[in-house]
Amino acid sequence: MVQRQSTLPLSAGVSKKGHLVIGGCDTVELVAEYGTPLYLFDEFTLRNKCQEFKAEFRQRYADTTVIYASKAFLNGALAVILREEGLGLDVVSDGEFAIARSADFPMDMVYLHGNNKSAEELNMAIKHHISRIVVDSQNELEMLAAMAEETGHIPDIMLRLTPGVDAHTHEHITTGIIGSKFGIPLFAADEMVKKAMSAPNLNLVGLHFHIGSLITESQPYQEAIEIVLDFAADMKQKHGFELEELDIGGGFAVQYTMGEPVPPVSFYAETIVSRLISRCRRLELSLPMLTIEPGRAIVAQAGVALYKTGVIKDIPGIKRYISVDGGMADNIRPALYGSPYEAFVANKMLEEEAEQVTIAGRFCESGDILVKDINLPPITRGDIIAIPVCGAYSLPLQSNYNASLKPAVILVKEGKERLIRRRQTYEDLTSCDLF
Ligand SMILES: Cc1ncc(COP(=O)(O)O)c(C=O)c1O
Repeated sequence: MVQRQSTLPLSAGVSKKGHLVIGGCDTVELVAEYGTPLYLFDEFTLRNKCQEFKAEFRQRYADTTVIYASKAFLNGALAVILREEGLGLDVVSDGEFAIARSADFPMDMVYLHGNNKSAEELNMAIKHHISRIVVDSQNELEMLAAMAEETGHIPDIMLRLTPGVDAHTHEHITTGIIGSKFGIPLFAADEMVKKAMSAPNLNLVGLHFHIGSLITESQPYQEAIEIVLDFAADMKQKHGFELEELDIGGGFAVQYTMGEPVPPVSFYAETIVSRLISRCRRLELSLPMLTIEPGRAIVAQAGVALYKTGVIKDIPGIKRYISVDGGMADNIRPALYGSPYEAFVANKMLEEEAEQVTIAGRFCESGDILVKDINLPPITRGDIIAIPVCGAYSLPLQSNYNASLKPAVILVKEGKERLIRRRQTYEDLTSCDLF
């Protein structure tokens, strides 16, 4: 019997037949119906995470807004769930914005981010009166001021600062250090505050920072909060700036493997709120609205990738490769970041994990390895491999590498499944080609 189940969605269980069951649905039956690779989201886990973030922060700091970072994964059905749970949406492109609109997402709950927003994206944000535009550079501030003047609508904006804090995470996902392509370095920020405050068509409501992703420590958040609040106090004194909103971004870690537990949401809430309150008191600042932007921590655990096994290759004394019918085209994280994952054999959940294997993807790169050296029950061709914690940054980073088709996505809840994205077809693959 497989013991390591804590990375699976909250509703996961095992049937009498030894099949992995999620949201009351037998994953082996789902695969028979929808094929593989298949991405599955557990609605219970999704809603639970939304509620957990709201509750943990609001019980400590009532004036907290939770904005979901769409880049982790966005789709119309997911946007509806987020809307129902009362979360806002952080979008970074006109594409993410289009998905939000397709789900009738309330525009006064949408934040626009991005280090290189196009004129069209800024125009769209102004035209639809979205909640906040998070300005990332002087160039953008000037463009936005000119555009707002033309339309007559005064957008609420925030400035994204780089506080110069190292979040101690993978270099590809650290964003708060000076020299990052994101945000305005502190030494240039005074001028920006002055400019934003004097622009008659812009309403500067607050400051934003996002220091990275998969952050497991309290100190980077605390340091960044202090630095940005100190800056806000300085701006108050110099320019009369009132900090109405502090947006501390996302970055909350999730547990990918049993060996790497991460802090609970309550730890982040306690850490962030206590430092925010104590620093504001010390600086004699009014308490601002607190905004948080979790992405990964809302969707990661809800998502499971399901694959079918094919070739089994033994290299005696070295490795036993189990090949599956997906890989880096549907989940590039192991190849891109060396991200660790666990796996289960969804049709053999009650069997002994007697064999050490490496799960290889089917794509033409040696680096296309999904899980290295994991103990699993003996595997034969046609078994179903389930990889948990695949809900974040897998689907949005998918490609058609080797002209593969992007997989179907289903949502499961209380014994029923719903297709929320169909599998691509060969027609989809060739539909943009011209002869
Ligand atoms: C501005 C901003 N907010 C929030 C997030 C979400 O981060 P995470 O998914 O780690 O919570 C990101 C991720 O890159 C981001 O850039």
